[in-house]
Amino acid sequence: MCGIVGYVGEREALPIILDSLKRIEYRGYDSCGVFVLEDGEPKLHKDAGTIDHLKKNLSESEYKGKVAIGHTRWATHGAPSKKNAHPHLDGKGEIAVVHNGIIENYQLIKEELLSLGCKFVSETDTEVIPHLINLSLKKKALLKKVSSEKFDWQLKEAVREALACLNGSYAIIVAAKGFDGLIAARKESPLIIGVGDRENFIASDVPAVLEQTNRVIYLEEGDLAVVKKESIYIENGGAEVRREGRLIPWTIEDAEKGGYEHFMLKEIHEEPRAIMDTLRGHIAEDGINLGIDFKIEGGAKGRSILMVACGTSYYATLCGKQIIENLAKVPVQVELASEFNYSDFVLDGTNIIAMAITQSGETADTLMALKKAKRYGSKTVALTNVVGSSATRIADETIYMGAGPEIGVAATKSFVAQLVIFYLLGLSLAKMPESEFVGYLEELKRMPQIAQIVLDEANGDIQKHARYFSKYEHAFFIGRGVNLPIALEGALKLKEISYIHAEGYAAGELKHGPFALLTEDTPVVVILTHDNVYEKTLGNVKEIKARGAPVIAIAEEGDEEVEKYVDAVIRVPGTSAIFSPIPNTVALHLLAYWTAKERGCEIDKPRNLAKSVTVE
Ligand code: M6R
Repeated sequence: MCGIVGYVGEREALPIILDSLKRIEYRGYDSCGVFVLEDGEPKLHKDAGTIDHLKKNLSESEYKGKVAIGHTRWATHGAPSKKNAHPHLDGKGEIAVVHNGIIENYQLIKEELLSLGCKFVSETDTEVIPHLINLSLKKKALLKKVSSEKFDWQLKEAVREALACLNGSYAIIVAAKGFDGLIAARKESPLIIGVGDRENFIASDVPAVLEQTNRVIYLEEGDLAVVKKESIYIENGGAEVRREGRLIPWTIEDAEKGGYEHFMLKEIHEEPRAIMDTLRGHIAEDGINLGIDFKIEGGAKGRSILMVACGTSYYATLCGKQIIENLAKVPVQVELASEFNYSDFVLDGTNIIAMAITQSGETADTLMALKKAKRYGSKTVALTNVVGSSATRIADETIYMGAGPEIGVAATKSFVAQLVIFYLLGLSLAKMPESEFVGYLEELKRMPQIAQIVLDEANGDIQKHARYFSKYEHAFFIGRGVNLPIALEGALKLKEISYIHAEGYAAGELKHGPFALLTEDTPVVVILTHDNVYEKTLGNVKEIKARGAPVIAIAEEGDEEVEKYVDAVIRVPGTSAIFSPIPNTVALHLLAYWTAKERGCEIDKPRNLAKSVTVE
């Protein structure tokens, strides 16, 4: 969703704000804006389009000042346009607000404010906030009539009063004429403070501040902070609270492109490292250590696992279900978070471990599902990539994947890192002979090399296949068993970045309807690595070929048989069937990337999308 940033310190604020916004542009990129206080005097610049576009039309020398806020938008209320871009101002243009979230009751508030004579210029929900703050200040009749210390306090109180009127979710930063700091507050939307030396930073996400500092304070639900260059005051429910800073282990290089044309390509190339780091984080001398006490007995009467997730994380979770059930024989139920939230809860919550699988730890639907499971008495676990994210604060326990910051809107390395956690979880819950366990673990430890082989040896062929694949407008991705979710992921990745309509399907299901769509213009990508249903899938391929559709197979090195039946083959190294999702995923991520590149798409910023979806 939207990205918001703020700076207060001794340096020129604008370049810092623009750089920070650029670093979290993955949160939204349809319009943006900045508000700078030059010697306390406000200056606003905003427009539709990206940060680069904004910069082009902005003479930085005209926006001098040591306090500033900025916003990069993913539209919810009101089309992406200059007037709807943030920051939004009060009627006098003295109070500016950037906001991420949704104010559900804004229409009612707006009507009330209109009746009081407030003038609105945008169609957004956010614009009510600066008006409410101004009104609250006016009521006190204190604006500019008190000492600066009192004004700070009055402004903080006015923000608090304004927020008390709002239903919905928000992370906001407020700047105001005559105020030498910033006010930040959060409810159900993420917000962090980057702690510097005689300067402080506020942002939606850590990558925004990594260039400046590794020390970060995560604001908690309901926190309101007054941030100045040398002080950070935080209160919650009207009382001062202490929030410890954390050192973030990511480096700025982790969050930069490092010579790759796109973050997505860089992150695909980081898949071996993401697997390795995730393994390293959880394999100790004495075995697997996920840091969680699962205590699952298995079987219908014992505890079972409920997993909730969205998008790519959901597909990883579908794969995880099969991995855990296969290795540990523990039942796993997987639900789309957005559906789970409004369905009946018919399980005995107290007998369930509920896991939320979320790269960002901020996906609104997933957080809601986590809270729902908690309400029903389940023990809750977050599996996430982001230290201190909202999911970690809601869940009883957290398992971190070790993917490092993922910037590309299309999730890639976090997917394989999630799979690694599922292998580890399955093995740690398994009751199998030691030798079998060691065999699995050893093979799991080889997965970084397996992923690397795909990158080194299949990449060229995939680029070649992508050239003709990119000419089509529809495609199917099919697989079976543990590779059905991988087919779903392959299709999702392709559609979100190349805009080719792609459907993931169970290989055996095409004949139950979708066959009607097969023509010579509908390529089918089939996952054909060896497993107990290889022959069946090969049978499906023959049926598809008989209907004239071109077939690309992902098949193992040395499988010559497959050449007879398909039009093109992407080779991956052989593994045990249960580990085949790893090489197959890397291959499909590359196929999506090169196809989108061939079509000239905006790969890191696909249209209409945002990296983390913090609205329902
Ligand atoms: O941060 P999360 O894992 O909770 O995000 C869930 C989805 O929004 C995300 O996976 C989305 O589907 C990606 N754009 C897919 O590439």
